[in-house]
Amino acid sequence: MKILAIESSCDETAAAIVEDGVKILASSVASSAAMHAKYGGIVPEVAAREQVKCIIPTIKEALTQAQVSLKQIDQLAITVGPGLIGSLLVGVETAKTIAFTTGKPIVPVNHVLAHMYANFVESSQQNSSPITFPAISLVVSGGHTELFLMSSIKDILWLGGTLDDAAGEAFDKTARLLGFENRGGPAIQEAANKLKDQPSPFKVKLPRPMIHDETLNFSFSGLKTAILREVNSLKEKNELNERTIQQLSYEVQESITDVLVQKTLRAVKTQKAKSILISGGVAANLRLREKFQSSIHASKLTVNFFVPPVSLCTDNAVYIASYAYFRGTPADWHTLTAIPDMNVEV
Ligand code: KG4
Ligand code: ZN
Repeated sequence: MKILAIESSCDETAAAIVEDGVKILASSVASSAAMHAKYGGIVPEVAAREQVKCIIPTIKEALTQAQVSLKQIDQLAITVGPGLIGSLLVGVETAKTIAFTTGKPIVPVNHVLAHMYANFVESSQQNSSPITFPAISLVVSGGHTELFLMSSIKDILWLGGTLDDAAGEAFDKTARLLGFENRGGPAIQEAANKLKDQPSPFKVKLPRPMIHDETLNFSFSGLKTAILREVNSLKEKNELNERTIQQLSYEVQESITDVLVQKTLRAVKTQKAKSILISGGVAANLRLREKFQSSIHASKLTVNFFVPPVSLCTDNAVYIASYAYFRGTPADWHTLTAIPDMNVEV
């Protein structure tokens, strides 16, 4: 079955064509991230206007890449939430129009739950054993940090999530305090990496929020305050420079990744899970991937670790199609609507 999926929940406009939930025939992504950089965050109005400009060319590009016509598509899939209302509406109304004009079935998709299905597509499965259940799935993006139990490819149970800022948001906000303009996660990763091989005399230890807490919840908002304090103190001493910024970036990355790994391993132990799946923009972080591998090894847990290629971690429409195939139910297009605050606690 060939599914054409459309994703427009934030500042990326994406379309993909995926066969049987696993085979990527096309994936096209346009991003307005660079336009928001100078404002220090995503401007919803600008994002929505860019969605309008990009949506049709992006869908056309996917059809061209896959060398299929709309007629050869069996089903449509569309992100209905959560996300920015203006951005979501562009995708939802476009998809409804295609459903109306072609008569194809259409599946509404929850963007956050869909992220984890990036792990099930063929390019994520190379060189590893198949995903076995129960699995613990960590979704870490700009707006969400959620832990789920998957007892099968369809059965998902929410276990915990962030009480305030998401992990990606913590990367983005601390990055801004450190003077980085573009998307925080990649900027922090790059600065932290530069420090890796050269030990620095300047040392700072940030908190690991809720790392020993019994629940599977997270809290990352305190990191901003901690970084702000460090930045101000360094400024006063005239010591805020490239090197100290690298050191702070390193420590932000260590703090966030320590908490994500430890909480996920706690969930693995309590649920006796056989697999760990991570997904979402923050799953692109190389230190997080490395730390998962080494911590699983050190813990002697028999659990297989899965992470999609970087291009499938950040927003795209491939996993929207995969989710629709494995877990979606077609709906009457008349009833589809954008749901900005769509619940993820299933
Ligand atoms: O999943 P995503 O593309 O969009 C949302 O659904 O939110 O995630 C975007 C988030 C941003 O906060 C971005 O800074 C973060 O993912 N991110 C990273 C990396 N690449 C993207 N965080 C840490 N390290 C990275 N390499
Ligand atoms: Zn996302």
